[in-house]
Amino acid sequence: MQQRTTVSHQKIDRKGIVLAGGSGSRLFPLTLGVSKQLLPIFDKPLIYYPLSTLIMAGVREVLFITNPQDLAAFQRLLGDGSQLGMEFSYAVQTEPRGLADAYRIGRSFLAGAKSILILGDNIFFGHGIANMLASAWESEGASVFASLVKDPHRFGVVELDTNGKPISIKEKPKVTKSRWAVTGLYFLDERACDYADDVMPSERGEIEIVSILERYLDDAELSVERLHRGFAWLDAGTHESLHQASDFVKTLQDRQGLLVSSPEELAYRKGLISLEALEKLAWEVRQSSYGEALLALVDQERNA
Ligand code: DAU
Repeated sequence: MQQRTTVSHQKIDRKGIVLAGGSGSRLFPLTLGVSKQLLPIFDKPLIYYPLSTLIMAGVREVLFITNPQDLAAFQRLLGDGSQLGMEFSYAVQTEPRGLADAYRIGRSFLAGAKSILILGDNIFFGHGIANMLASAWESEGASVFASLVKDPHRFGVVELDTNGKPISIKEKPKVTKSRWAVTGLYFLDERACDYADDVMPSERGEIEIVSILERYLDDAELSVERLHRGFAWLDAGTHESLHQASDFVKTLQDRQGLLVSSPEELAYRKGLISLEALEKLAWEVRQSSYGEALLALVDQERNA
């Protein structure tokens, strides 16, 4: 009989980092008192969305990097992760030095492991996301995702050849070579921390993640997966995009009667927590529509 070998995510040591610092200045005055990543996207805090993406990908250990002044609020909201069958740790970034800083701050947490970095304001939603994450999980070198945008100069921009292979990658170029924006989800191998140490500040004074990606590109070890039409990638960085993201989630949830990016639901579906544990979490927030939706899910599962 032929032996089937299955690769389990847990066997491979890939850890997650959520970069949730920054000043949120494009959202002032909303972010004068509250971290951007704790603002609501309809019925849940923004940070739940990138956390859900990491859970879907198969991550169990997550480091949250926050501003010093917001650390306590994140810890109050997310705890040590055991309620979701996970392990959460926290680190502070004293100044928004740039995205590559995540790998400097995260070096001891990663301890030589491969990683997934996600920006705390990036929301991913769409058909096929689980497969997309699973294949990036298995990838060597660096894997990123690109999405077509109308205004590429606001993003990291990747130029692709006819086979979809990356040719160049630039942060917020004045003259753009394509409309493919690099999204805020980065699957990098264990070299990322060393590469981050070498990054020099850019003209705008930040240590750019794109400088790390260029290193992988130079070694032909950067792969770029293009998000297909209809896939939603949102960053909630401005008043307009925050509102749009809330609208999007509300519309989908109202229509389908399913939660979008609920860490509790995903932890249950991934087998990290039992139905009883999910019910307990739902019960704690039962006075809200979010809690009601989780309780409805528990009922459905029990009767399935
Ligand atoms: O959203 C995708 C884009 O994110 C990429 O296309 C760009 O290549 C990448 O540089 C980044 O561009 P942004 O202009 O959106 O980055 P922003 O400075 O807004 O930071 C993104 C998130 O990371 C934001 O939630 C704040 C947080 N952050 C940012 C910096 C610079 C930190 O926590 N620490 C930082 O030092």
